[in-house]
Amino acid sequence: MKKIALLLLTFQLLTFNLAKADEGMWLPMLLKNNYEQMQKLGLKLTPEQLYDINHASLKDAIVWFNGGCTSEIISEQGLLLTNHHCGYDAIAKHSTTSDNLLDNGFWARSFAEEKVNEGMWASILIRMEDVSDRVNKALAGVDAKDLEAKKMEIFKTIEKESSKDTKYEAMVRSFFKDNAFYLFIFEKFTDVRLVAAPPQSVGKFGGEVDNWMWPRHNADFSMFRIYANKDNQPATYSKDNVPYKPKQFLNVSIKGVNDGDFTMIYGFPGRTNRYENSFGIKLAVDKINPAIVALRDIRLTYWKQEMNKSDSVRLLMSSQYAKISNYWKYYIGQTEQLKRLKVYDEKVSIEKQFTDWAKNKPEYASIIPNFEKAYANYTNYALHATYMRECIFGSSIIATATKYTGLERALSAEPQNIEAIKKAIDALKSDKAVFYKSFNVVSEEKILAALIQMYYENIPANQHPAYMAEVLKKYKGKTNKETFENFAKAIFKKSFLVSNASASKFLDDPSLKQLEKDPAFAFARAFYTNYNKNIMPHIDEFNLINNMEGSKYIKALMEMQSNKSFSPDANSTLRLTYGNVKSYIPKDGVNYSYYTTLAGVMEKENPKDFQFIVPAKLKELYIKKDFGIYADANGEMRTDFITNNDITGGNSGSPVLDGNGDLVGLAFDGNWEAMSGDIVFDSKYKRTICVDIRYILFLTEKLGGAQNLINEMKIIKN
Ligand code: ARG
Repeated sequence: MKKIALLLLTFQLLTFNLAKADEGMWLPMLLKNNYEQMQKLGLKLTPEQLYDINHASLKDAIVWFNGGCTSEIISEQGLLLTNHHCGYDAIAKHSTTSDNLLDNGFWARSFAEEKVNEGMWASILIRMEDVSDRVNKALAGVDAKDLEAKKMEIFKTIEKESSKDTKYEAMVRSFFKDNAFYLFIFEKFTDVRLVAAPPQSVGKFGGEVDNWMWPRHNADFSMFRIYANKDNQPATYSKDNVPYKPKQFLNVSIKGVNDGDFTMIYGFPGRTNRYENSFGIKLAVDKINPAIVALRDIRLTYWKQEMNKSDSVRLLMSSQYAKISNYWKYYIGQTEQLKRLKVYDEKVSIEKQFTDWAKNKPEYASIIPNFEKAYANYTNYALHATYMRECIFGSSIIATATKYTGLERALSAEPQNIEAIKKAIDALKSDKAVFYKSFNVVSEEKILAALIQMYYENIPANQHPAYMAEVLKKYKGKTNKETFENFAKAIFKKSFLVSNASASKFLDDPSLKQLEKDPAFAFARAFYTNYNKNIMPHIDEFNLINNMEGSKYIKALMEMQSNKSFSPDANSTLRLTYGNVKSYIPKDGVNYSYYTTLAGVMEKENPKDFQFIVPAKLKELYIKKDFGIYADANGEMRTDFITNNDITGGNSGSPVLDGNGDLVGLAFDGNWEAMSGDIVFDSKYKRTICVDIRYILFLTEKLGGAQNLINEMKIIKN
């Protein structure tokens, strides 16, 4: 018996040794552990061709796009490819009712036609460096409660030092919950212009209905261009700037992909939580996720009512709608899949195994019990944190009221600092210019009423601010609903925050007295003051323990499974994931193909639903089968395909590369059956949804007529 058990254990250790082909967002500097396997799967490049700090390599073509997305350089003139949903706000900003780029699409025929985007940036990684020793030394002996502040301090010091007297920007990030620290040096470009976007009927085809789902049929792409000064250096916008000459750009391959082909994806994944414990998962599934969904439901329902009334309102509100809807659906999916894939049970079983292993190791033995205790105390307050974000600040008028806190502080300072007041006013004015464009009074009044009712009914009464009692007394109706409707009505009648005009009037001559008695401002202040004073200390206490134990837990897991290659959680740093094009079986008896075609776009067409409109010209091209050199071997136009690469939000717009490092697709989404993927990677179900590069080129050439852009690219035909 004993012998068998031992044998089993060795076998387990051996399997740990093999890095998994699909799971893992690897740091490109540390690929050596994976390289051999990548070669076996079909990679034809050397490690230096993937990442090198002395010579041009693929990493020089991968660009962090405006913080939340990834893009890649696809010509020697700094042409950038990213997702349509990453360019959406920029496209919307350039859209007017008479020149609606969102609806009609946009294709610059020359550099002169490209559109400037204020505030947009694009950064390229120059190098990364392990700074763990230095950070650990600075943190040695620091008291637990000061650790976070001290960590930020040493990060700042390193960042300052390493970018001093250079043109670069530096950032230090924590890995494996403070078990390793890396420094990243970037070149940041701030003149990034809009070059092309398909009509949103094509770029967002399927809309919210298809979002997070396979099979998919949209062309989620847009193009931008990096501009630099005449010395090819980053510069703020100037008409004298010229297209950036990159160290490296991607070749574009129209050879197409087949099931099983090697693919790798470079990009800037935002956040995963793969080392989460069972307590965290239970809290998410039972409480937090359902609360987020229910609260977002309110916003989406009332916004939608107004958006349905006219196309111009829909245009103004569609970006915020898409943003809230995106993670509303995400949390529905995540909860469903966490349950279906029994992730909680899986985590419990790992923790049992861990507890056995840690039994006689004093430094680790208390980790799981400490998690349990911390969560038991936190559970009562966790919902309140979610409600601050999604309920109190989920009301646009309350969220915007909160921004006046800085002005209040400046106005009440003694002696008064005119400069500080002016600065606060200017910040509010520029914020306001954008805010009121999509602010819809009719829906916001209903949203405020419904949200506050939710707060009243779901947050324990002993956590409410005293202000709540005043509301109840003053606006008392026959039902809770009526009470909070009365309340919202009063706010919208009296607050200067309800319109751009009245907010402007206030800011032209702001008085502390008027601000403090504004009902929206008073409301906002009552809730966040209560939260900061009475709830935050509990949350901080939880975070302190959870972070410390979480950090130890990963360290211990690495010891327990010392032969396994651990991949760090996503944290908006450059990563590489590799695997294959891969079909899948979503449920018994159903087999999903690895690709879709334009025929499927036609199947989904519905002229009555704006999410499923097919432009006349695209239909014509489809009927004539006018696909140029972009058709597949059967003469069909492929639209999207799937791979088993490991990506998450932030990877939007990432290049999908073949074994030669050539661009074959553009990553843009994940699939429904693996919505729990940020917490566990499930090899059976987890897929990345990509636009086939041939569809992008076909649309650019045939729908947009932008041969000029095609001509810039280096196209690999066979
Ligand atoms: N789910 C995708 C992502 O998070 C697409 C989001 C935008 N599309 C939308 N229909 N809201 O990257």
